[in-house]
Amino acid sequence: MKAGVITRVDGKPGEVYYPYSVVDIPQPTPGPDELLIKIHGAALNHRDLFIRQHLYPGTTWNVPLLADGVGTVVGVGSQELEGWKGKKVLIPPGKGWASDPSGPEESYAVLGGTKHWPNGTLQEYATFSAAEVEECPVHLSTPEAAALPLCGTTAYRAVFNKGQIKAGQNVLITGIGGGVALAALQFACAAGATVFVTSSSAEKIRSAKELGASAGVNYKSPEWEKDLQKMLPKSRPYLDLVVDGAGGDIVQRSVSLLKKGGIIVSYGMTLGPLVPFTMTAVLKNIELRGTTMGSRKEFHDMVSFVRLKQIRPVISTTTRGFESVDELFEIMRSGKQFGKLVVLLGNDQAKL
Ligand SMILES: NC(=O)c1ccc[n+]([C@@H]2O[C@H](COP(=O)([O-])OP(=O)(O)OC[C@H]3O[C@@H](n4cnc5c(N)ncnc54)[C@H](OP(=O)(O)O)[C@@H]3O)[C@@H](O)[C@H]2O)c1
Repeated sequence: MKAGVITRVDGKPGEVYYPYSVVDIPQPTPGPDELLIKIHGAALNHRDLFIRQHLYPGTTWNVPLLADGVGTVVGVGSQELEGWKGKKVLIPPGKGWASDPSGPEESYAVLGGTKHWPNGTLQEYATFSAAEVEECPVHLSTPEAAALPLCGTTAYRAVFNKGQIKAGQNVLITGIGGGVALAALQFACAAGATVFVTSSSAEKIRSAKELGASAGVNYKSPEWEKDLQKMLPKSRPYLDLVVDGAGGDIVQRSVSLLKKGGIIVSYGMTLGPLVPFTMTAVLKNIELRGTTMGSRKEFHDMVSFVRLKQIRPVISTTTRGFESVDELFEIMRSGKQFGKLVVLLGNDQAKL
């Protein structure tokens, strides 16, 4: 069967860009507690770009790439699992973390392209524990379902469990073109919060408003925080929460906008591996909270929330076939996406 992998070439982390290639690998056989899943669609996350640049922990070669995906159960490892056959399921994006809100109980691994868990969604068939998959909400198309697991779980944990968002509060979500940021926007709006965004593009801010954002500013503007200050409602002229995936000077920029004791949740550092914390933020009792993807429980809770609120992940581009995946990486490198980059796999015409 086919799989999409990176192959090894010489180069230093951050300078190298490992070539993508499509290879033949043996079809896996499910263990006694596992399901054999035919993958219909898979989606990129920024981590996959970091993997190609050797900037992600555990990066390795010749392991199926990608962590987001959806498929149908076509085989089972034991009689008790027969009932799963034919079900459309969301692939678990990580393992080793059951439910502890503070972090993984065991050594945690994210799916796709690493030596920590040599499995990924960019292959024709894959095996996963039946206890780890989630039944796919019926309102989702195949690309929407493929786009959901990793970025949905990350956004859910960031907004609710770390950000403690409540109806009526003001939240800023930065870099709204990103997959996690858009999921966070949808979740915060569904929870009744008032959402502000930043982006490099006026068009992306317009699209975010169509999804429920109140207003937005361009983060390339030298004093975007002052522009945003003017947009906050008179009745609540401060932010309760910032959800950020870029890093950089987010603390300095947002400190004047946040209420006393306000929270900044950082789920990534696209700009580099440091976020300076300032004395002004200390004196204002601001909390900077790091967050990662999420537990098995948060994956489940997120899918239930998406089902309840009938949320549909935002798709930027959908391609077909393993050979098209490099195209999606190029879009991510250029930063032109607004939402998720999805590839449909297999010869069957999976429902769009
Ligand atoms: N900790 C975890 O478990 C976890 C899970 C998922 C993601 N992440 C991390 O989160 C980050 C985003 O991931 P993703 O998959 O959502 O990425 P993505 O889809 O590639 O989106 C990245 C977005 O970053 C925004 N951006 C770039 N420069 C920015 C700046 N100076 N200020 C604000 N925003 C900026 C851009 O927004 P515009 O297009 O609007 O300009 C871009 O769309 C990455 O660092 C990733 O590794 C971490």
